[in-house]
Amino acid sequence: MWPLLVLLLLGSASRGSAQLIFNITKFAEYTTCNKTVVIPCLVNNVEAQNLKEMFVKWKFRDKDIFFYDGDKNESSPNINFSSAFIVPEALLSGIASLKMAKSHAVPGNYTCEVTELTREGETIVELKYRVVSWFSPNENILIVIFPMLAVLLFWGQFGIVTLKYNSNITKEKIIIISVAGLVLSILVIVGAVLFIPGEYSTKRASGLGLIVVPTVILILLQYSVFMIAPAIGMLPISIILLIIQVLGLLISVVGLSLCVSECTPMHGPLLISGLGIIALAELLGLVYMKFVASNQRAIQPPRKAVEEPLNAFKESKGMMNDE
Ligand SMILES: *[C@@H]1O[C@H](CO)[C@@H](O)[C@H](O)[C@H]1NC(C)=O
Ligand SMILES: *[C@@H]1O[C@H](CO)[C@@H](O)[C@H](O)[C@H]1NC(C)=O
Ligand SMILES: *[C@@H]1O[C@H](CO)[C@@H](O)[C@H](O)[C@H]1NC(C)=O
Ligand SMILES: *[C@@H]1O[C@H](CO)[C@@H](O)[C@H](O)[C@H]1NC(C)=O
Ligand SMILES: *[C@@H]1O[C@H](CO)[C@@H](O)[C@H](O)[C@H]1NC(C)=O
Repeated sequence: MWPLLVLLLLGSASRGSAQLIFNITKFAEYTTCNKTVVIPCLVNNVEAQNLKEMFVKWKFRDKDIFFYDGDKNESSPNINFSSAFIVPEALLSGIASLKMAKSHAVPGNYTCEVTELTREGETIVELKYRVVSWFSPNENILIVIFPMLAVLLFWGQFGIVTLKYNSNITKEKIIIISVAGLVLSILVIVGAVLFIPGEYSTKRASGLGLIVVPTVILILLQYSVFMIAPAIGMLPISIILLIIQVLGLLISVVGLSLCVSECTPMHGPLLISGLGIIALAELLGLVYMKFVASNQRAIQPPRKAVEEPLNAFKESKGMMNDE
């Protein structure tokens, strides 16, 4: 009698242990960059050889949101999770993970219920949403600082040139350059405002474009400033500085095109080095201009004193006509 009872007990115990065992995942995270979201549900001891023996049910906040009926090989997602699916073929290796479009994903606790003939089990996975910044904080700062610095340095150069060569420069030129400089400054500021740190979005992407693309204007302005300063013109140093800027522009435009549509941009450093090169060239331009301007102050008076007043007059008139 006793042995029989023990056998019965053992039998029920082993039936009780014939539960499906899950590889527990406490939570899954997604960000704005996930196109699809996978909520993991892994069964460690599936024995079924045939899908017909399997049944899967997913629940969210105690509401059924998805069924898979292996007997019919049929999936039925709830209307609010219409993109949800599992991969039936993976079920036999224990994978009942639910996949869905990000737009259908709602953070919260999801329950995965798997049945295999008489064995069954369930596990709960919390789906969390995590906010990720498009660029890293340091990258954000540099991307905004370099172009702003470059624009400020341009204004510095322009200030030196207009103060120094006031008499040689026509009003129209000053007005044209000021207006272009103003447009450039506004574009960069608007870009920086749109670009304020946060998740990837079209607004931020267009802000980045507004910060980077107008650098073309900056280079044209640099060229004009070199040209209106009679002593600088197209000297080798000016040409080298312009070439460096064009190079910086090319690098930043390539960087921009690689980053602008990437939710997790890998080429931020390329973009930033381009912007940094431009700012550096503007800085060198300012130093150069200051140097030339102060040198001239020292050289000019004696030269002028030697020349005949009439010649000096002709020369300055000629210069004006040249411009
Ligand atoms: C979101 O994407 C990341 C990176 O591709 C991935 O590691 C993660 O598992 C995804 N999250 C979900 C919930 O699918
Ligand atoms: C569960 O985890 C074990 C050990 O880490 C692993 O061998 C097994 O493949 C996992 N099961 C599934 C279905 O991924
Ligand atoms: C189950 O249905 C899917 C498509 O709904 C099909 O690709 C797959 O081959 C079917 N599997 C079986 C075992 O019938
Ligand atoms: C779908 O979502 C709405 C709002 O979240 C809810 O009221 C409704 O009951 C859901 N429908 C189903 C079938 O769960
Ligand atoms: C999900 O369940 C865990 C554990 O029961 C709980 O701590 C957490 O607050 C729940 N999350 C939500 C969004 O209800």
